Amino acid sequence: MKYDIKDIKLAKKGKLRIEWASNNMPVLNLIKARFLKEKPLKGLKVAACLHVTTETGVLAEVLKAGGAQVFICASNPLSTQDDVAASLVKNLKVSVFAIKGEDTKTYYNHMKSALIAKPDITMDDGADLVSTIHQRKHSMHSNIIGGTEETTTGVIRLKALACQGKLRYPIIAVNDALTKHLFDNRYGTGQSTVDGIIRATNKLIAGSNFVISGYGWCGKGVAMRAKGMGAKVIVVEVDPLRALEAIMDGFNVMPIMNAARIGDIFVTVTGDINVIRREHFKIMKDGAIVSNSGHFNVELDIDGLRRISKKRRATRDFVEEYTLKDGRKIYLLGEGRLINLAAAEGHPAQVMDMSFANQALSAEFMAKNYKKLRKQVYSVPEDIDKNIARLKLKSIGAKIDVLTAEQKKYLASWEMGT
Ligand code: ADE
Repeated sequence: MKYDIKDIKLAKKGKLRIEWASNNMPVLNLIKARFLKEKPLKGLKVAACLHVTTETGVLAEVLKAGGAQVFICASNPLSTQDDVAASLVKNLKVSVFAIKGEDTKTYYNHMKSALIAKPDITMDDGADLVSTIHQRKHSMHSNIIGGTEETTTGVIRLKALACQGKLRYPIIAVNDALTKHLFDNRYGTGQSTVDGIIRATNKLIAGSNFVISGYGWCGKGVAMRAKGMGAKVIVVEVDPLRALEAIMDGFNVMPIMNAARIGDIFVTVTGDINVIRREHFKIMKDGAIVSNSGHFNVELDIDGLRRISKKRRATRDFVEEYTLKDGRKIYLLGEGRLINLAAAEGHPAQVMDMSFANQALSAEFMAKNYKKLRKQVYSVPEDIDKNIARLKLKSIGAKIDVLTAEQKKYLASWEMGT
């Protein structure tokens, strides 16, 4: 079995941490029990380009229980948990190609290693795997029946690929399931981003001017949690509706040029490029902290920051100090990569339970239905989404009401008014 990881001796620690995550992933465990009996992925090879975390470890167990052979590479050079990678290799016999801190060349080489197995299904987080496949020759995807995509950025890229008529196989947009983005993007990113900033800096959030660029589900989550810790939250948006939403949620809204002057802590979560640029770094306060929690580090113009700095040095784990020419200092966290995974552990297992339940059930759906699908980006079927919500509620022990026959009839009628 081939693999490339940091240190196989870390496997024991990784196993215990995966077990901890698994204890908080009841829905995935129910799916695992059914997969063990039904083997819906029997004989299939799954290449998964995901953040190699304890939660991904639990997903790998579920895919294996379903009969799949699993190959994993990282979806970000800084998000791999090396002990998890070791445990997956040693205890689950999964081929993992991922090392925390790998350089860009190794990152793409690892992706190619996962693809050498000629997978039947791809599982992506950010669409780098699919993008790599589509930029290479045909043989690389000759076996592939379909894929899944975990995140907003990936779905946007794949829709662009499909729009140009170039997508070579069907993909299910896991991100767009309600049981994914309403919880993972909002509560997962919300908590883990603030967690990452705190672990990297140990700064007090209370009383700080906390600037969030982007008020999508991730931005909403980060804003909610920063406010909860006493920050004065400032939202930067380009969309008028989202900006209005932010105002009515009680936040200050202003352009980045204004926010740059007063912010103490900055986080980008837009999915776009060069959101905080050289001209913004130039006017920041001495000691400003800058981070990104969007999928790619392109949200920050790190090159621009380098060019206006006279000195840079690492001061703590995941903190780089940039000294500007006038002596002001700016602190860049986690090389501008996803701070929640670089400096913390990513989203808690309780939300990843639903995200990865969508992954597992979408892979099963693909295995059963790929012949009927076209080369398009598909939503997760509504019954899968609803079922995951039901199972999650059940696992929490929460009960909900059901409509009476009279209420059902009323909702299907038009005659009755006041
Ligand atoms: N993305 C965000 N958090 C994650 C986690 N804990 N595991 C895998 N992917 C993630």
